[in-house]
Formats: sequence, structure tokens, C-alpha cells
Amino acid sequence: MRKKIIAANWKMNMTVSETAGFLEDFRLDIEDVNGVEIVIAPPFTALAKLSELLGGSQKIRLGAQNMYFEMSGAFTGEISPAMLRELFVRYVILGHSERRQIFGETDALINKKVHAALASELKPILCVGETLAERDAGKEKQVLETQLKGSLAGVTAEQMLDVVVAYEPVWAIGTGRNASPEQAQDAHAHVRAVLAALTNAETADKVRIQYGGSVKPANAAVILSQPDIDGALVGGAALEPRSFSEIVKAAVPQ
Ligand code: PGA
Repeated sequence: MRKKIIAANWKMNMTVSETAGFLEDFRLDIEDVNGVEIVIAPPFTALAKLSELLGGSQKIRLGAQNMYFEMSGAFTGEISPAMLRELFVRYVILGHSERRQIFGETDALINKKVHAALASELKPILCVGETLAERDAGKEKQVLETQLKGSLAGVTAEQMLDVVVAYEPVWAIGTGRNASPEQAQDAHAHVRAVLAALTNAETADKVRIQYGGSVKPANAAVILSQPDIDGALVGGAALEPRSFSEIVKAAVPQ
């Protein structure tokens, strides 16, 4: 079965010293947790420190929040896959709605990043999701399909097994307003159907699909109990060791 994956997306929060303090408390909280994959994606400035503190931990994996698709060169302000690999980063969040909306990232650009990540043995956490206007217009499934097809163009069935998809309805991110478990399950089943069309049913059945958008300890268990929801991508509630560890515990197999 699909092992649940709970990832912290710290966004533009957490200094190096705050990161160290978080990890100390978080590790104690999750000492007895097994059977869940945990990822922390701090800002770039805290990656080296977190990598050193984790020391190759099997329990907590390192993630990055973005990267560029070239390996090196004149790309001021960007970070390459090779730089992430050097720090033992395993996962990279790509196509987050904030990257799409604030920084103008397109499916074509995200597709280049997905290929660059896979070529460097980094596992993409590919984010997709509709805006409120798109949902109100009844277009959410169409939007998901366009984003998935564009971002995953040319990805083989074998490569797809290293991809995690995060369904994040934009209207639920940082708003305190989360999708109902039924709405989320419905979207996840659709994502899986699109993945099956892009590869095959057997592959799509193995790909993990996270839900993201105002996940917190109070709603994590019901969201994670849906058949096609294989984890969570957590923003605000992952900034506190206790609330993040409670979400992780809600994902432990029963
Ligand atoms: P949130 O963010 O949990 O604060 O809503 C989730 C995300 O943007 O990944």
C-alpha cells in the first residue's frame, strides 16, 4: 500500500536558529512514530543546517521549496538541483500555487523543473490546484487536468513512481478554509484518473497524492482517512513542532 507522506512547507519562515529549536522538540514528539514518511522543506538558508542536524536520518527527509532547472550558470538568485543534492535533499516542492501566482510560473517551466529534478534523483512534490473562481465556475477538474498534463509532459511511468502530487485548492491555502473530506477525495480520485491516463492504472495506483490547504491537527485524521489521500503538505500548522507532530501522528497506519 501507499505509505503516507507528511511534508512541512515552511515557506518564507524560520531562521537557522529557529530551525534547530524546532527540530529538537519535534524529534522528541515523534520518537515513537513509525510507518509515515516525514519531510521538512525549510527555506534555502536553513537547508545546510537542517541537513547537518538530520545527519542522514531515515525518519525525517529533507525537502526544498523550489529550484531552477539548469545545473549551474548565470541565473542570479537561483538554486540548482546539484546544489540541493550536495545537501542530501530528497524532495523538492515544484509548482506551488504561490510560485505560480506571485512569481508567474507556468506549467511549461514547471515541466522543465520536474525533468531536471528527476534527472538529479530529486523527488518532485508537484503542486496542482484550482482557484476559487475556477471552482465556482465548475472548472476544477479541467484545471487539474491541464496542470497535470502540462507539468508532467514526457514523464515516463517509471519516473512517475518518484513523483508525489500535492492537490492544493488555492482557496484553502492559508485561509483556514479547508476542502471538505468529500471535496478533497473527489479531486484526488480525479488526479489519480488523470495520472492513469498519462501512464497506466497500475502506476497511478502507486503514486502518492497529498492534500494541502489549512491542514491542522483538528482536521488531519478525517482528511487522511480518505481512500485516495496519501498524505498532507502543511504550511502554517507545520511551523510549530507540536502541531506538526500531531498531524504526523494522524497519518500513522492503524
Ligand atoms: P497552509 O499551506 O497549510 O498554511 O494552508 C499549505 C501550502 O501552501 O502548502
